[in-house]
Amino acid sequence: MKKKLVILLLPIVVIVGAHYALTMVDNVLKVGRMWETPGVRPHEQPMLVMQTGTVPVSGGEALYRSASPASLEFPEAAESEAGITGGKKGYMTYCAQCHGSRHDGNGTVGQSFAPLPTDLRSAKVQALSPGAMFKEISYGIPGGRQPPLATTIELHERWTIVAYVKSLGVRK
Ligand code: HEC
Repeated sequence: MKKKLVILLLPIVVIVGAHYALTMVDNVLKVGRMWETPGVRPHEQPMLVMQTGTVPVSGGEALYRSASPASLEFPEAAESEAGITGGKKGYMTYCAQCHGSRHDGNGTVGQSFAPLPTDLRSAKVQALSPGAMFKEISYGIPGGRQPPLATTIELHERWTIVAYVKSLGVRK
């Protein structure tokens, strides 16, 4: 009889104890719980309107977007040894899932694309100017499937990835 009573009471004691401990932590915590903090949905706040005629005069993505590929050149250090090493890391993070760790377009994710990801060591891709490749990975290919990655990869890193891909050369 006593044993049964203990088996019955033990879970109750555990649950009540746990509840007590959790609410105590809640009361002691200085940060707000998610359900207590105000939720702001995207675009709930009005967007700031730019003055008409405002254009960036130095830096900024818009300058690259509107520039002709031929006018874009590697920034300093992108082609250095450190730049290319960084570019390899960037490639493995942002490109390999589609273009493959051997750069041949055989990445796992890429196989669901039509057209398939391009072999980056093909003569066609290696013949692209750095500026053209930079614009393709930044803003996508019109009508194509290359994702625009300008808002995903930081500007300089994109250049180091281009330097890395160019450094591979045409596959023998
Ligand atoms: C989500 C998959 C995906 C990711 C991630 C991706 N690509 Fe691609 N890429 C593609 C596909 C698909 C194509 C073929 C596009 C086409 O021809 O429409 C392509 C095409 C290309 C081309 C060939 C463009 C040409 O002129 O034919 C280059 C260069 C390229 N990608 C480089 C990169 C680099 C560098 C990265 C990483 C920064 C990258 N891609 C990330 C899917 C991807």
